[in-house]
Amino acid sequence: MLKISNLLLILFALFILLSPSAYADDDEDDDEGDGSDDFSEDLGEIAKSLLIATIVLIAWKPLHIWLQKSGIKNNAKSWGITDVKAAKKKLLRFNKWMLRIHIVVGTAATIVGLIHGIGTQMPDWESSAAWAGWFGMLSMSILGALIMWKWPPKAIKKRARALHTQRALLVVTIILLVVGHEMI
Ligand code: HEM
Repeated sequence: MLKISNLLLILFALFILLSPSAYADDDEDDDEGDGSDDFSEDLGEIAKSLLIATIVLIAWKPLHIWLQKSGIKNNAKSWGITDVKAAKKKLLRFNKWMLRIHIVVGTAATIVGLIHGIGTQMPDWESSAAWAGWFGMLSMSILGALIMWKWPPKAIKKRARALHTQRALLVVTIILLVVGHEMI
């Protein structure tokens, strides 16, 4: 059902994003920092949570496909589902809702991440790796927008979809974000 590579990516992403050292506040900085520093660091926490919420789609997509193909039908009795067709329709609506959430949350993660980066890195621009990670997020969002918008030619949409849904760009983005934050 869930491809091993997807599962590993989710576990890997959760591990590094949830580990206390990643994006962790430095105590010394806290002592010196003023209120605006704290706010900027809080924004980092928010951006991290939003990014995790965006990535949930990787787990949801194969689960949705399995439920549509066989999950609902085979488990209808034990799940108390009497109308399989109606249940599948409901699930389709939920899937659309999930995609909408993905788009909003992914865009928000990129914007909040930018504000967090500006707030915490000004005026030194210490971590170029963290900024490279943010550019990865920006690229993901732009590619996502190219999939959604009507205007791009089919060939461009196809390429954008391939780049947006394959795992390499996302893995590199996460690694850069984590390494970048460890370096600060
Ligand atoms: C940091 C931001 C984002 C990340 C990390 C991200 C990541 C991903 C990943 C990994 C998938 C593939 C899920 C799968 O097939 O298993 C996906 C799907 C998708 N994303 Fe994003 N995304 C982001 C932002 C956006 C934005 C801003 C949009 C739209 C404006 C968007 C639109 C889509 C669409 C339409 C799909 C489904 C593509 C398909 O099934 O063919 N994403 N996203």
